[in-house]
Amino acid sequence: MSASATDPTTTDAWARLTELAAGYRPDLRGALADADWVRKSTLQAADLHVDLSKNLLTPDVWRALRALAAEIGVEARRDAMFAGAHINSTEGRAVLHTALRQPEGAVVMADGDDVVPAVHEVLARVYAFADKVRSGEWTGATGRPIATVVNIGIGGSDLGPVMAYEALKPYRQDGLECRFISNIDPTDAAEKLSGLDPETTLFVVSSKTFGTLETLTNARLCRSWLLDGLGAGVDRKDAVAKHFVAVSTALDKVADFGIDPDNAFGFWDWVGGRYSVDSAIGTTLAVAIGPERFAELLAGFHAMDEHFRTAPLEQNVPAQMGLLNIWYTNFLGAHTHAVLPYSQYLHRFPAYLQQLTMESNGKGVRWDGSPVTTETGEVFWGEPGTNGQHAFYQLIHQGTRLIPADFIGFANPAHALKDGDVDVHELFLANFFAQTKALAFGKTPDEVRAEGTAERLVPARTFTGNRPTTSIMAPALTPSVLGQLIALYEHITFTQGAVWGIDSFDQWGVELGKQLALQVAPAIAGDRSALDAQDASTQGLIDYYHQHRKA
Ligand code: F6P
Repeated sequence: MSASATDPTTTDAWARLTELAAGYRPDLRGALADADWVRKSTLQAADLHVDLSKNLLTPDVWRALRALAAEIGVEARRDAMFAGAHINSTEGRAVLHTALRQPEGAVVMADGDDVVPAVHEVLARVYAFADKVRSGEWTGATGRPIATVVNIGIGGSDLGPVMAYEALKPYRQDGLECRFISNIDPTDAAEKLSGLDPETTLFVVSSKTFGTLETLTNARLCRSWLLDGLGAGVDRKDAVAKHFVAVSTALDKVADFGIDPDNAFGFWDWVGGRYSVDSAIGTTLAVAIGPERFAELLAGFHAMDEHFRTAPLEQNVPAQMGLLNIWYTNFLGAHTHAVLPYSQYLHRFPAYLQQLTMESNGKGVRWDGSPVTTETGEVFWGEPGTNGQHAFYQLIHQGTRLIPADFIGFANPAHALKDGDVDVHELFLANFFAQTKALAFGKTPDEVRAEGTAERLVPARTFTGNRPTTSIMAPALTPSVLGQLIALYEHITFTQGAVWGIDSFDQWGVELGKQLALQVAPAIAGDRSALDAQDASTQGLIDYYHQHRKA
């Protein structure tokens, strides 16, 4: 890679896109009347059927976006990522989450070593562990099998596992529950530990760095809960060995915590936290759904990786969706992007995507340190349909803001119909399809009048239409399809970061708050000089706390 990032705003394609945006008059009614447009705008990536036709685009815009990718060298940067180049420049690291889902026998070099054998060695250990817990062979300190696995982690060490655990609920083993503690708010641990039996509870401490305050605090709290609960008759060291395993890149720190290194699963610094659900960070998930299903999840990721790596730009779904986001963000003024899964099981998917996209692309400088000269990083948000329809869709339909939205749905319901059941899934999908149609076509004042609406209500009941959506469908929400969806958004995020010239793989923006929390904590605890060192607003907040905290 060259030493400096390209400023995208200086490219010819950027100038062309600016020109196209200035003259752009959206006409989705016209575009959707053209079956050829819809056919050409509908792509396949692995099992995902992606209809881009309801976006605010023209063939000229597509061409200019692809020209932008070519001028920036998006494909070269993609190839550099897959080849193990140190594209995470501020941390001096390769970015190889794609190696985590390579099949055995593939070769991926990082810093002179083929990393695939090590990936599969760890996977084999994770799978063996998962099998032991699932079969009851793994027992706690009093000899009882495990009934509950509690994952302790935060950010990428929590959001991916919990999202996938929820998404793949039908694939979980009966009688084996998983819970997830992430927040340092003590109520999180209290709630999640509530009702659990220490004898049958196993903790998975998940932390890439094994230095994260929240996770270590919660892990200590859980260790005390366990030892108190097991009572004095149980050997403490043995209890921790049988009830605690760890996932980390810092295995020395795992040992310092008292966890047997034999019960630790490693991964590598070339896996970013928000890209790690497919590493050993997925251990809790592997216990829940079993090794076979976990392997299917990885195969789904890999299928999307292969699509992204090999499909030409005009067929490349993640690249196209990333470029589309550039168009909306930088040329049409969108600030946010909604992700609306028509699947209750995907209820944590938008939250997961928030870390993936916003921690990756919420940057104001490029990877060479130069300031960006255009907007980056949209706000991603969403909720499952149809719940969102009765909450915030009003703003998407009739508000003043442009909000591109991805709708995600499945041809098959998660649970098969029994004889005589009403097929509610069809009604569910009807809502999905109707919403994208309503957003695209809107309703003109004349159409409103034709319904006999009083003239004074016509403006309020008019829908402008021309509100962009992408429809993503798959046969069913299987482990493989979930892997494909996650990888799709990883590569969309990559494409946007590549165009903006930013390092999508660091997260320095979370550091300052962490540092200051360590300075504020003693002030709250009563240290006079620490309190004096605070600004007047922070002192006021601490005073309020001291006055109102009950003994
Ligand atoms: O605070 C940001 C962050 O570093 C995320 O990137 C990461 O996923 C999370 O904290 C948890 O970090 P760790 O896995 O090292 O505990």
